[in-house]
Order: sequence, then C-alpha cells, then structure tokens
Amino acid sequence: MIKHIWILTLFPEMFKPFLECGISGAAFRGERSDDVKFELHFVNIRDYSQTKYKSVDDSPFGGGPGMVMRADILRDALIKGVQEAGGYESLDKLHVIYTSPRGKVWNNKIARDFGTNELGSSPKDLVFIAGRYEGIDERFLEKYVNDFFSVGDFVLTGGELAIMLMLDSAVRFVPGILGNKLSSEDDSFEDGLIEFPQYTKPREFEGMEVPSILLEGHHKKIVEFQHQEKITMTKKWRPDLIKK
Ligand SMILES: C[S@@+](CC[C@H](N)C(=O)[O-])C[C@H]1O[C@@H](n2cnc3c(N)ncnc32)[C@H](O)[C@@H]1O
Repeated sequence: MIKHIWILTLFPEMFKPFLECGISGAAFRGERSDDVKFELHFVNIRDYSQTKYKSVDDSPFGGGPGMVMRADILRDALIKGVQEAGGYESLDKLHVIYTSPRGKVWNNKIARDFGTNELGSSPKDLVFIAGRYEGIDERFLEKYVNDFFSVGDFVLTGGELAIMLMLDSAVRFVPGILGNKLSSEDDSFEDGLIEFPQYTKPREFEGMEVPSILLEGHHKKIVEFQHQEKITMTKKWRPDLIKK
C-alpha cells in the first residue's frame, strides 16, 4: 500500500533533516517497509496566496495581538494543492489533521493507535496542517479539519515540530518499520512503565560493573530482573506513572 502524507506548511524546509536521518527518515522516504510505502508531499501554503506580497495572514477581527492565517488561502492549499494535485475525487478520501494546543494530547497510546490505524492500515491518505502566527481562522477548522492533536500543554511557534513528533513516534508502530518487531514492545510506556536500564561494552566502566545477572545467560532470570528494574526505574524517575 502506498500512503500519501500531505503537509501544508509555510516552512517545508524544516522537514529536510527529518527526512534525511534515521529510521523515520528512511520510513518516510518509502524505504523501510513493503507493507506500507510512505510518500510525503509538501504544499507551501504561501503558493496559494493571491495577495500582492504573498501574505497568508491578516489581523484578527475584534482586535488583539498577532495575525491569523486566512481560511480562503488554506482552503485553496487543501483543495488545489492536495485534492486536485493528488487526484482525489473528494475530501472524504483524506484525513485532515491540525496540530493545535486545543487537540487531544499526544501520548504513547495515541501514537500506537495512530501508527497502527491511520498510518498503517486506513485507506485514507493524511493531510497535516501546520499553523503559524496566532493560528487559523476558525471557519476553516470547522469545515475542513477532521482531527486535532496537541503535543503538550505548551505553545510552539508553529505546527511543524508537532507534526514531526507525531510522525516519528507513530511510525514505529507501523508493521515492518522497526527492524525487530519486539523493539517497540519493550520500550517505555508500553506496559505503563519506563524502560529498564541498558548496558553494553565495556563490561567495566570507570569502576562500575554491568549487573552480573545480565552476563549469566539465564533468560528467565534476566526477564524477571529487567521487569523489576522497570519498576525501580519508574518509581525513581516517573512516580506519577506508578500512581496511575
Ligand atoms: C503560536 S501557535 C498559536 C497558538 C494559539 N494562539 C493558542 O494560543 O493556542 C502557532 C501554531 O503552532 C502550533 N502549535 C503550537 N503549540 C502546539 C502544541 N502544543 N501542539 C501542537 N501544535 C501546536 C499550532 O499549529 C498553532 O497554530
């Protein structure tokens, strides 16, 4: 399956290093999995401005600081830049996402569901809209956006980093993307705990030894030890998770 991901942004160049690096870069270049091949497309919102200076924003009605992105320009970027350019017969073939502080707050469970469903199996292609300035005219959001996601209770200057964060954390759950199927299952948050401590060579580092049990080759004991370590680490670093 080819999954097209469209990103409406004023700064497509921000995604260049994301696409060039690591596993998620390879995944979104379409190089990691035979099951799902991703194709990313960037639509520069400014290309759909009809104004003399290619502006995409204007001052808010009712006054107040900052500028607001115009609904008509975003609509044209979505319809012409995505629907028509991609040959979609209707917007129903697309799932349109806006990153915003008002959205559902992203976490590991949402990332897993999103990776499994929206990225991994849904027939719909995805559109992400990165806001800038004070955000986007409400009428566009009401009419064209299907889902809102926040990456945390803080305010970014733009949605691009939020989109990369969402894509990076969700793609790990798409079948065939991580080399070892088990590697996401052992990661932090999967069972409500954070990961156990990891060790590699050298066996002795500045007077500190690797826990001997890891060197004895007794698989069952190692699993038990690592589970206990997860609890210890979670109590130490994230006691809020234990309470949950
Ligand atoms: C400066 S922010 C606008 C903040 C908006 N005026 C507010 O108070 O909610 C510009 C853009 O960054 C993105 N953004 C900011 N914080 C975000 C967050 N926590 N999660 C996801 N996107 C965020 C949104 O796309 C937003 O339109």
